[in-house]
Amino acid sequence: MSIGQFTKKFSAGEIIFTEGEIGQCAYLIDQGRVEIFVDKKEERTPLARLGAGEIFGEMAIIDGGPRSASAMAMEDSELTVVSKEQLTERVSDADPVVRLLIVMLLSRVRDGIKEVGKYGKHKEYVPKEVTSTHDLDHLDDKTSKEVLNRIRFESELKEALTKNEFSVHCQPIVDLKDNDVAGFEALMRWNSPTRGLVRPDIFMGIAEESSLIIPMGRWVIKKACEEFMKIKDALSMFDRPVDHLFMSINVSGRQFNDPQFFKILNNATKKYGHRPEQIKLEITERVLVTGNMVEAWIQRCRDYGYTIALDDFGTGYSSLSYLSRLNVNNIKIDKSFVHGMEDDPNTMIIVKSIATLANHLNRPAVAEGIETEKQLKVLKKLGAAYGQGYLFCKPMPVDQLIEFLLQEEIEAAA
Ligand code: CMP
Ligand code: MG
Repeated sequence: MSIGQFTKKFSAGEIIFTEGEIGQCAYLIDQGRVEIFVDKKEERTPLARLGAGEIFGEMAIIDGGPRSASAMAMEDSELTVVSKEQLTERVSDADPVVRLLIVMLLSRVRDGIKEVGKYGKHKEYVPKEVTSTHDLDHLDDKTSKEVLNRIRFESELKEALTKNEFSVHCQPIVDLKDNDVAGFEALMRWNSPTRGLVRPDIFMGIAEESSLIIPMGRWVIKKACEEFMKIKDALSMFDRPVDHLFMSINVSGRQFNDPQFFKILNNATKKYGHRPEQIKLEITERVLVTGNMVEAWIQRCRDYGYTIALDDFGTGYSSLSYLSRLNVNNIKIDKSFVHGMEDDPNTMIIVKSIATLANHLNRPAVAEGIETEKQLKVLKKLGAAYGQGYLFCKPMPVDQLIEFLLQEEIEAAA
């Protein structure tokens, strides 16, 4: 064997490594052929013959176990050394589901090799008994359990969409000048037969990890437009003005790539009788780091006439340059600031600065999560233009919300 820094040469018949050893690196075959084999009771059983372009010796590196088999150069061969870091960094950066699958597959390959070793390649072989038939308790690794539960959750979500288990609740957004309802935010709820009513912060993250967010996002656009029409119709019947009202719909970064996004949005807006400026798309500040596409996407929305709110402002990688560059209509101050304000003078200063900045840039701020009269008073003083929170009204199914809104009118009229 001759050793370069990144390549190694092995002569025909030379052993590259032996079963049971600790692995230091994997190899990529540049030239030559390598036999992978196991020895049991002096019988050598070949598992594979590999050629140029194939990698071997990766298993011990990835799962940390011993070499599952031996490797021998079948002819003079040249191999590129693939370092431990090269493999492990990639594996640890991978999606948790992918990581779990790799570990599972490697364990299956190892079991298979053990059986071949025991019985010889062509002898009959009794499959390994299943460890468990009903739960994940045999998995001692906590992350594996979490990953599997996520996969389950994802499948349930997929089913929920086909079984129509989602609904939209709406929460009023109030103009703080006069405490009048200015619009609503459509919030998705999942009424799961097994889990009960699930809030979007629980399931949205999982939906966003997969492409499931695309059909869910499409559904919520249509549903929000429909619910908005119901609200407007009901209020109009009581001669309440509705023309100034808007409906906010949350849009996830992945939906920027949905080729049908604008078609669905335009159709729904038209079908349910709204003007585009009555539909406000809320995009989270976190998507801004994903690059230029966002700017173009926002502009496209504005060209159609829709309005945009920058959601969760202050929780991600807020950059002030975004605020002037992006053509958004409002900024939503995250509820964590509103809640933190009372105990922390610094938070109060931040809220005041965001509200002032927002007003000066003509992107009036919406303060989220207002729960107490005191918070409301402070926010008004700090210059927040709009407010949203339990103090005014919690998110409700539209029928209830309509009742609430009409009730409010009766009270206001009394
Ligand atoms: P590792 O366990 O590190 O060392 C032995 C290597 O042989 C293993 O990684 C794989 O790269 C390779 N190997 C094991 N089983 C097979 C197989 N059935 N077919 C091809 N290659 C294998
Ligand atoms: Mg929102």
